[in-house]
Amino acid sequence: MAKIAPSILSADFLRLGEEIKAAEAAGADLLHIDIMDGHFVPNLTIGPSIVESIRKITSLPLDVHLMIEDPDRYLMDFIKAGADYLTVHYEALLHLHRTVHWIKENGIKAGVSLNPATPVWSLEDILADTDMILLMSVNPGFGGQEFIPQTKEKIRTLKKLITEKGLRTLIEVDGGIKISNALEVISAGADILVMGSGFFSAHEYGTIVRQFKELTRTE
Ligand code: DX5
Ligand code: ZN
Repeated sequence: MAKIAPSILSADFLRLGEEIKAAEAAGADLLHIDIMDGHFVPNLTIGPSIVESIRKITSLPLDVHLMIEDPDRYLMDFIKAGADYLTVHYEALLHLHRTVHWIKENGIKAGVSLNPATPVWSLEDILADTDMILLMSVNPGFGGQEFIPQTKEKIRTLKKLITEKGLRTLIEVDGGIKISNALEVISAGADILVMGSGFFSAHEYGTIVRQFKELTRTE
């Protein structure tokens, strides 16, 4: 059954603690945290100290998405802050294999993310080492953008590659996901769907999770 990961990028940051508790109470499966540095993407968000504070108020797995240049410099800070998944961008690293292994040796799950223009075959030789692949379905940097439809073909290609190799690597999809297009993304092969504006702009977070779980049941 597919999982839902609300992205706090679209939460009310003045009430971040309440927002996270409400997402957890609503039945969210993971909490997606977007880290942006103003270089890798044209936006800035938060650093490890906020992640550390989040860790204290929720038992949801923390799914930390690093949209930063030179992520190696900050990996230990985010591990110490309590990340459960640490996802780095393929486009940000010359020595991705080393980074993925370093993350896993430090006891947490390693994810690799691809921008929309980066082909799935780039992952072929790192797939077996990776716990999760995060396919961006928008250009990273902002919430509230339109889902890029070609992502569905990328999900299918990636799913086939994972199945052929007999791996258990999870596929996460991030950007432009709403209840209205979630089923297409799940049917293409996604295991975890990130939902920012589609989740936090709802009046009742419980309704979104219920609708999501209903979709995954009929899938
Ligand atoms: C975008 C971020 C996403 C963002 C998704 O760069 O990586 O996680 O929060 O937001 P929505 O769901 O609004 O597209
Ligand atoms: Zn993200």
